[in-house]
Amino acid sequence: MRAVDLIRQKRDGGALDAGAIKAFVDGATDGSWPDYQVSALLMAIVLRGMSLDEAIALTEAMVGSGQRLDLSEFGGTPVDKHSTGGVGDQTSLILAPLAAACGVVVPMMSGRGLGHTGGTLDKLEAIPGFRTNLTLAEMRRVLRQTGCVLIGQTDEIAPADRKLYALRDVTATVESRPLICASILSKKIAEGIGGLVLDVKVGRGAFMKTRDDARALASWLIRIAEGNGVRTEALLTSMDAPLGRAVGNASEVIEAIETLKGQGPKDLEELSVALAARLLILAGTAKDDADAERQVRDALTSGAGLEKFRDVILAQGGDPRVVDDYARMPIADTEIIWPADRDGVVANLDAELIGRATVALGAGRDRTDAAIDPGVGIHVEATVGTPVKRGDAVLRLRCDDRQRVAAARDLLAEAIVIGDTAPALSPVIVERMDVAAAMRMEG
Ligand code: URA
Repeated sequence: MRAVDLIRQKRDGGALDAGAIKAFVDGATDGSWPDYQVSALLMAIVLRGMSLDEAIALTEAMVGSGQRLDLSEFGGTPVDKHSTGGVGDQTSLILAPLAAACGVVVPMMSGRGLGHTGGTLDKLEAIPGFRTNLTLAEMRRVLRQTGCVLIGQTDEIAPADRKLYALRDVTATVESRPLICASILSKKIAEGIGGLVLDVKVGRGAFMKTRDDARALASWLIRIAEGNGVRTEALLTSMDAPLGRAVGNASEVIEAIETLKGQGPKDLEELSVALAARLLILAGTAKDDADAERQVRDALTSGAGLEKFRDVILAQGGDPRVVDDYARMPIADTEIIWPADRDGVVANLDAELIGRATVALGAGRDRTDAAIDPGVGIHVEATVGTPVKRGDAVLRLRCDDRQRVAAARDLLAEAIVIGDTAPALSPVIVERMDVAAAMRMEG
């Protein structure tokens, strides 16, 4: 099967059969398809879409690019959570240790920054020494020691996603229901979990801007995961403005630690606790919803979640002293205040533009081989709804490179709106979808 023929077929709106999809995934993984042909087909998929059957075949081919782990030695039901991509969304760093502190096994496989959204691996690697590229033997050791491991795609598990993910990040080919489904689920199915909680973001800073699109994505994700034997549910959550206050790799790690100390922003804490509680339900270690939430809150207030995070950092080669001493994290020296341009109320902090500005500062990539700067970031000083006077700080930027700051400024000028009245705030959690709700949806 020639790559160019498959690209043409999809470009012209045709469907690809399972054999063609496998040829594409194998070619991308083993390098026999050059990056330009892989990227061309990705763009054709973004523009022309795929049916649910094609998305299922793509997911299965991507799972099949590596091994599917057997975690039965750990007992119980290993579970994981994944987000469809947000700005300032560091819930994974909080909920994985919280759930593990409640006795649940969490083998978490995450991604790097994608488009304007941040990635758990880039955040973790801001911790000096922290390794996300563990071998399978190391992954099992950490899981045995701590009940929780935080890794990325490897040569053995979901290698196709590692390749496609890196290309999608820099070719504007992220916003696609089938590509998002196959990317997320290939990792999750391959890592050997029995339960999955999805945080499906909706709003200005999400890849799905409308509730209908987010529901449709959640429905496919749940149906494909359940079809592969993984019990799955989704929370649809708001992503109009950044979650919490920190955006940027090292600063998000610090905010996650603050949250584990009970001192984090309330929206971030609420979502992290809710997602962790759903993990306990799926793992079968809580009697009911109230019991799950109580267990997670106990792990938070007792400091057990924080201690678990410290253990995981140590087990994965990182410097656990960062938990008590944030000066050990790489933070850029130069601070720039973004002031309110008039008296009023913060009416909008556009999450996508703030995410793109953070990437422009150096927190993300514009080429697959670009190095990121873990120490740059944006801190929200005045959240949506906060009254401000002209000159008050709305954002605080951290970056030592003036050219990068100039690029971020252009984006931020549009991202911030100071109005006369506070807008109605949407709740953090908009809706929950289970398999029955997913099956009721068409398409
Ligand atoms: N997370 C992933 O792993 N892949 C996507 O495509 C989007 C979010």
